[in-house]
Amino acid sequence: MSNALQEYLSFCQNRVERALEARLPSESQLPKKLHAAMRYCVLDGGKRLRPMLTYCTGQVLGIAPEELDAPACAVEFIHVYSLIHDDLPAMDDDALRRGKPTCHIAFDEATAILTGDALQALAFKVLADDPGLKADAGARLKMLTILAKASGSQGMVGGQAIDLEAVGSRLTLPELENMHIHKTGALIRASVNMATLAKADVDQKVAERLDHYAKCIGLSFQVQDDILDEESDTATLGKTQGKDKDNDKPTYPALLGLADAKLKARELHEQALDSLSGFGTEADLLRDLSLYIIQRTH
Ligand code: IPE
Ligand code: IPE
Ligand code: MG
Ligand code: MG
Ligand code: MG
Repeated sequence: MSNALQEYLSFCQNRVERALEARLPSESQLPKKLHAAMRYCVLDGGKRLRPMLTYCTGQVLGIAPEELDAPACAVEFIHVYSLIHDDLPAMDDDALRRGKPTCHIAFDEATAILTGDALQALAFKVLADDPGLKADAGARLKMLTILAKASGSQGMVGGQAIDLEAVGSRLTLPELENMHIHKTGALIRASVNMATLAKADVDQKVAERLDHYAKCIGLSFQVQDDILDEESDTATLGKTQGKDKDNDKPTYPALLGLADAKLKARELHEQALDSLSGFGTEADLLRDLSLYIIQRTH
């Protein structure tokens, strides 16, 4: 990872940690167990790549980080909710997440379901009424629409449904790509597009190029996630390695083999760079981030 990216990632991680903390109900508030579970799952963990994408897109467009705390938190709340439900026994049945016992193990299954539900609602509340968000009512409404669509049956939840239906079957490459674009790509794309909406006068062409960049890295992100499930280890990942094979999941390495899956990730990175060809050095962090996504080890 480049030094500039490392520095910016630390800045974003610290910033979003404080912003998330401030927006979560305290553990002393009723119902205490639910609030404790929300804080357990959200705080102190994860790479925070979606919030970073929001801040980083803002930096390219000249939007101050404080104006982007609300969308950065909203997308992370949805992401954490998706992980909690993804780990449930009815889905991937995972016991480890971000190096800690998963929500249903640390608490119980009902609490895990409710924690996900509550985080989803909180995400939309933050976009609707967060005082830090300067965007006017029209822009807020557009952000809400983007995040709702990216989260629902035409986005992440739709992708998860395809994932579960596909267990044990062999998807074609276009079917696999479609699944990944939905289950993981949609929220990554929303992270970028919500930032674009925070500024009133962003040129349509600029917005389209950033959206295309996000589409490419959204897919490469899940390709690399599949690769890591095969070749990394549990301690590095902070989640159980080899789970995809155990669960007979359709993945890029399963369909193409590891070498071709890596080529696919590289190709998507090149396409992401192409989308940014009209930008100058202000987009270097986005370029570095795309490379990091396909080179990361966890
Ligand atoms: C894991 O996402 C789930 C996928 C969508 C592939 P991340 O790898 O971003 O998980 P955290 O947030 O860093 O834990
Ligand atoms: C999950 O994909 C995507 C989500 C919407 C959470 P995975 O099932 O591959 O994510 P991990 O590997 O458990 O993090
Ligand atoms: Mg899954
Ligand atoms: Mg999983
Ligand atoms: Mg995975």
